[in-house]
Amino acid sequence: MNSFPRIFSGTANPELAAEIASKLNVTLGKIELKKFADGELYANFLEKVRGEDLFLIQPTCFPQNDNLMELLIMIDAAQRASAGKITAVLPYFGYAKQDRKVGDREPITAKLVANLLKAAGASRVLLVDLHSDQIQAFFEIQADFLYAAPVLVEYFRKKNIPNLVVVTPDVGGLRRARAYAERLGAELAVVDKRRPRQNEAEVMNVIGDVEGKNCLILDDEINTGGTIVNAANALKARGAHDIYLCCIHPVFAGDCVRKLQDSPAKEVVVTNTIPVPSAKRFPKLKILSVAGILAEAITSLHTNSSLSELLKKQLNKP
Ligand code: R5P
Repeated sequence: MNSFPRIFSGTANPELAAEIASKLNVTLGKIELKKFADGELYANFLEKVRGEDLFLIQPTCFPQNDNLMELLIMIDAAQRASAGKITAVLPYFGYAKQDRKVGDREPITAKLVANLLKAAGASRVLLVDLHSDQIQAFFEIQADFLYAAPVLVEYFRKKNIPNLVVVTPDVGGLRRARAYAERLGAELAVVDKRRPRQNEAEVMNVIGDVEGKNCLILDDEINTGGTIVNAANALKARGAHDIYLCCIHPVFAGDCVRKLQDSPAKEVVVTNTIPVPSAKRFPKLKILSVAGILAEAITSLHTNSSLSELLKKQLNKP
């Protein structure tokens, strides 16, 4: 086995993969990825992988089905080429929101995808800020869970925002928001959100004092933007001063970008777990990189050294 990890990228976020490779001081592995005329996908490793420690970087963001299938095909090709270890690195784990049955006859897609990764031949997965902690239990292979908190907290710490309140836009994000608030020496508030229908969010209540305060609304992802923008409007209506929106995964579906631009937010801070195309970038958007966190984790996994130093910096650890 090589003394360095071998990094290969799918087509979902090659910029992040290149940044990780550069931080690790290795070159990105050569792989041919293409789509046949009928839409079927193909992957072929163009260099030896036998016995090697492979890290396949692929967030399963939009187009989710193609990106997931491409990753599964890469894993299949790698194990058929006798790779030593195959770690699927999913900076964004798509299909995670369906993590439990809410109504009858519904799927649990997060478990389905975890099963598919194992069935394809992945030895391990590396994930960043899962939608919910219960998804950890869905993996029947080795799994490590990272958090983007160090880069986001560092960014806001440097801003030194006075009278700061970290706000979670729904109760599900309370633990994350509390961890950030503690690190930032900020207060905590909660927006009580209701979803009358899928992809629709309604603010019921704001728990906590936001009047005259600067607010940082933190969520795991911004999808259609409904949740976070409604929360921002509710805080404004209750007398909040400056409002910052922040998430780990910029899904930015539908007319999300327009909503964010029109929102009362002073700034929208996200990470690069999902690439934001130039057409979806706007002046008050700030993108921070998680490449350093992933590179550090890959080094630990490759050398079989403890991840705990890195995880100590991961604020969501209980
Ligand atoms: C929901 O539980 C998540 O944490 C996010 O709040 C949600 O995915 C955001 O969706 P949207 O932007 O469509 O309201």
